[in-house]
Amino acid sequence: MDNRPIGFFDSGLGGLTCIPHLMKQLPNEKMIYFGDTARTPYGSKATTTIRSFSMEIADFLMKCNVKMIVIACNTVSATCLEALRSRFPQIPILGIIEPAARKIAAEYLEDTRVGIIGTKVTIGSSAYKKSIGSFNDRLKTYEKACPAFVPLIEEGIIENDIMDLTIKYYMDEFVESNQLDAVVLGCTHYPLIKRNIERLYPRIQIINPSRIIVENIENILRESDMLAGNSDFKNVFYASDLSENFVNMIDYIFENEDAEAKVKFLNFDLEKGEQR
Ligand code: DGL
Repeated sequence: MDNRPIGFFDSGLGGLTCIPHLMKQLPNEKMIYFGDTARTPYGSKATTTIRSFSMEIADFLMKCNVKMIVIACNTVSATCLEALRSRFPQIPILGIIEPAARKIAAEYLEDTRVGIIGTKVTIGSSAYKKSIGSFNDRLKTYEKACPAFVPLIEEGIIENDIMDLTIKYYMDEFVESNQLDAVVLGCTHYPLIKRNIERLYPRIQIINPSRIIVENIENILRESDMLAGNSDFKNVFYASDLSENFVNMIDYIFENEDAEAKVKFLNFDLEKGEQR
């Protein structure tokens, strides 16, 4: 048994989409979440920049004594997973792409046409395509970068015409010309617009890696006998800059969940690692 918290991080609020699934499946697990709201979005930045931000955040999480780090960000998983693993070999570090790719490859038939949407960096890396292909090279995969989604979501522009038009701008032709059967939400912000996508493309099946990763967290913790028991630890959600939407999103995401999920928001100074 290991009652230390799990560390999660993302460029902003997107990684929060993993948390309700974790709380449902592993209710004893506690978490420290870091959203880099000061520097979001990552998905159009240079790999070297993303890497240095990610190292800083992982350092911070290590200082918080987490038992595992979950990279709740596809962009970081696509570009920095190995670098993070070699810098912190002492704890498990889980990226979000490989678990989803493995599941897609195992569960979908070879004539399924799977679209992957994500940030410019994730799509530019072809990380999903390569990873799915390494498990099952007969699945047909198609990729599309949708760089305007994250800034809109970080601004809380979700359930309205602007978001719907933006989705249509990127996806109408992509879905139509590739005759897609399924779409992978290849950015952890995108589950927040899952309802819009379902409404606009009702025949398409949506694959959500933010849910799939939780099964893998459970497997890793179970295999290493690191599942948590009961503890008094209170979940903490840090952000590198004040963001009203980050706070709102915590409420929005957890609206029907356990009251304990409505945790305190602390604005944190990354360098000092203490509450401002
Ligand atoms: N939510 C992140 C991802 O899964 C990053 C989005 C961004 O900052 O551009 O890719």
